[in-house]
Amino acid sequence: MDKKLNIDLQRVPNHVAVIMDGNGRWAKGKGMNRIFGHRNALTAIRQVADASSEIGVKFLTMYAFSTENWKRPKLEVDALMSLLISTLKKELPEFQRKNVKVNAIGNLTSLPKNAQKVLEDVINSTKNNTKITLTFALSYGSREEIVNAIKNISKKVVNKEVNIEEISEKTINNHLYTFNLPDVDLMIRTSGEQRISNYLLWQMAYAELYFTDILWPDYREEHYYDAIIEYQNRERRFGKTSEQITE
Ligand code: FPP
Repeated sequence: MDKKLNIDLQRVPNHVAVIMDGNGRWAKGKGMNRIFGHRNALTAIRQVADASSEIGVKFLTMYAFSTENWKRPKLEVDALMSLLISTLKKELPEFQRKNVKVNAIGNLTSLPKNAQKVLEDVINSTKNNTKITLTFALSYGSREEIVNAIKNISKKVVNKEVNIEEISEKTINNHLYTFNLPDVDLMIRTSGEQRISNYLLWQMAYAELYFTDILWPDYREEHYYDAIIEYQNRERRFGKTSEQITE
């Protein structure tokens, strides 16, 4: 049966964030090296992006490279950067055809210059697309993002552009890498790990968390729809009582 039919299109999450985990273990299970796992991650990325568009998710944010990932062997880091560059170049016509706006969050200036350039080109070329915003978190760490925001707000306080009493949640939001994205509604992590690993900590304050044992390269559209259906079966109360929600 087509799982998509069980989705209530009026109540799809607006913003889905994904931690695509398990590429290394998937490859190891096949007697291959970790890089083979990363190369085989692309089908899953494409399927989740297409499925999101199809059901009307407006924002999809994928954790592609964490600040901690720089500690991996140079060969693996280089392979991930090459994969990022080649994929973005290759997919650009598809992003245009599918009306996808590409975005990136993280400490982007720490990426290799050629990766920054391709990213900039793709972001710029797709900036008027409207169907879905596909954000890649690259060299991203949530605590670092919050520290940056605090530094930038503090500078404005010192320069008297911001009054301390006026600092609000909105001020913080506006100084995060995600200033142009809404809060996360649903976070999906693959591979059986049940952690959020320094991902969108502020933005996930009220998110539903969904964990699956499937390794990322095996993740497909139907698995994604399972997560959306589970999300729709949960009651989001935002601190209120059940009665208040159903009133
Ligand atoms: C997690 O698996 C995966 C990553 C850290 C990298 C994901 C990035 C890509 C697939 C390439 C980026 C490309 C684009 C287009 C965004 P893992 O290596 O941590 O797996 P393990 O936990 O089994 O070792």
